[in-house]
Amino acid sequence: MVSREYAARHQARFLDLYVTGFTADVPIYLDLAAKYPGPVLEVGCSTGRVTEHLARAGHAVVGLETLRSSLAVARERCRPYADRVRLQDHDLIHHPLPERFHAVFVTLYAFNALIDLEEERLFLRHARQSMRDPGIIVLDCFCPLSFVAPDQIGRWRLIERTSQGHRLEVRDRREMLNPLLEQRTQMFRIDGGPEEEKVTHRRYVAPAHLAELLCEAGFENIRWIQDYDLGTAQPIRPDDRPSGPFRVLAEL
Ligand SMILES: C[S@@+](CC[C@H](N)C(=O)[O-])C[C@H]1O[C@@H](n2cnc3c(N)ncnc32)[C@H](O)[C@@H]1O
Repeated sequence: MVSREYAARHQARFLDLYVTGFTADVPIYLDLAAKYPGPVLEVGCSTGRVTEHLARAGHAVVGLETLRSSLAVARERCRPYADRVRLQDHDLIHHPLPERFHAVFVTLYAFNALIDLEEERLFLRHARQSMRDPGIIVLDCFCPLSFVAPDQIGRWRLIERTSQGHRLEVRDRREMLNPLLEQRTQMFRIDGGPEEEKVTHRRYVAPAHLAELLCEAGFENIRWIQDYDLGTAQPIRPDDRPSGPFRVLAEL
């Protein structure tokens, strides 16, 4: 019988190996971090993938994460940058931060972990209260598989990759628990070890809905990009529907 702590640590390690090679989002964060005075605030830094890229480029970063097992991996990963990285167990739903930031990055679907409208409102209000003018917030948002490939819903997909010298085998299945809530089950194996299960939930937030919430929280000049090119930023129209993951940008 594995302890809960062991399972959490093992899942954090899996997550780290699984996402570490993803870099498509990094250029926009580096670009914006260079345009605003630091430190940058990253919300939902998880195991520190984006945090490390920012720190390696010389940026000071405050990273927030609510999962201690992921924070522990992030601390290890960012150890060489201890002079400019501070990682903190802080849930933005509950409180703003005492400092003020010009650039806030809510990376890779952290906003989709929020379970209802009230949490979304509190999160954005506290993000706004943790910022100063001029300021920018970026929210990288997920798009359910049911929008992109509905025929794949409920089916197992096999993913095999090598990451940091380790072999990963993942069976991945998505289901919609309601029209907005996707459940993702990942059965993973590291280096041929025992298969373990990781279940996560993500709540879809439509671009126009997010734009309304951002406006309500005091943000303006709200735009979105469907790729990772800031040059393609467009205003959000009420019936805009993403064709995949998307990013929303808003300013103070
Ligand atoms: C999919 S992970 C993001 C991974 C990481 N940012 C990356 O880009 O590789 C989303 C993370 O957001 C964290 N999170 C969710 N809600 C949060 C909140 N209110 N405050 C801080 N972190 C939060 C979750 O624990 C989770 O680790």
